[in-house]
Amino acid sequence: MWQQAGRYAIKLLDLFCGVGGASAGYAEAGFEVTGIDLKHGKRYPYTYKRGNVMALDLDFLQQFDVIHASPPCQTYSITQHLRNAQGKSTSKLDLLKPVRDMLLQSGKPYIIENVKGAPLLDPVQLCGSSFGLTVRRHRLFESNLPLTGSLCNHTVRPVGVYGSMRDEIPGGGKTADTIEQARQAMGIEWALWGELVEAIPPAYTNFIGLQIMALLNKSYPQNRKTCGQHAQAPFKLSTI
Ligand SMILES: C[S@@+](CC[C@H](N)C(=O)[O-])C[C@H]1O[C@@H](n2cnc3c(N)ncnc32)[C@H](O)[C@@H]1O
Repeated sequence: MWQQAGRYAIKLLDLFCGVGGASAGYAEAGFEVTGIDLKHGKRYPYTYKRGNVMALDLDFLQQFDVIHASPPCQTYSITQHLRNAQGKSTSKLDLLKPVRDMLLQSGKPYIIENVKGAPLLDPVQLCGSSFGLTVRRHRLFESNLPLTGSLCNHTVRPVGVYGSMRDEIPGGGKTADTIEQARQAMGIEWALWGELVEAIPPAYTNFIGLQIMALLNKSYPQNRKTCGQHAQAPFKLSTI
């Protein structure tokens, strides 16, 4: 647990936490992490609450210093377009805007993660290749803190962790041959295939989390973005 002069723990709430890929990166960066998801959470490694994110109230959100959200992204993902082309259907939830509204209302530093093509505001992009991973898995991150993205380094043949294992993808791609290969590619050793497919590598949120830690260690008002939709009250840390 990260502490400042023994007085503070930086509490991060991970909304739509899934199996905890994002949570793990934040925990490695020093945050005390709590995750919320509709699923059972049996393999989630941190404090877990099962529930509907969209039913949370602002008082609950106020307990945390930083809030991350990975709302379902089927509407925008390339794999969804592939499924549509194959005549398969999945739900088309679009929680992005209601989630952003909730986070803005909370007044907390926030991060929203989603796939390329999702309408995030002024996002940065991360790629697995910049962290030495064999997945590329481009993901966007929106925040009301000034974050830096990563540059792609596409030099090795990627391992796909989407769809089904051992799948040849039209256009030359290939998904992982084994669950072990998929876990290693993502850096998530505890997840099953269906969970890996939805997760983001902990390396991404470790990178983001360390930036946020550095920003929170400076004076809070100066770290705020001031452009229209990101305007916020000064951030405070919860005292323990
Ligand atoms: C893209 S996955 C998140 C993956 C996670 N960020 C990770 O790295 O492991 C989206 C998750 O949202 C959850 N979910 C969808 N709607 C929800 C809701 N209304 N409340 C809570 N969880 C929800 C799903 O169960 C799923 O686990």
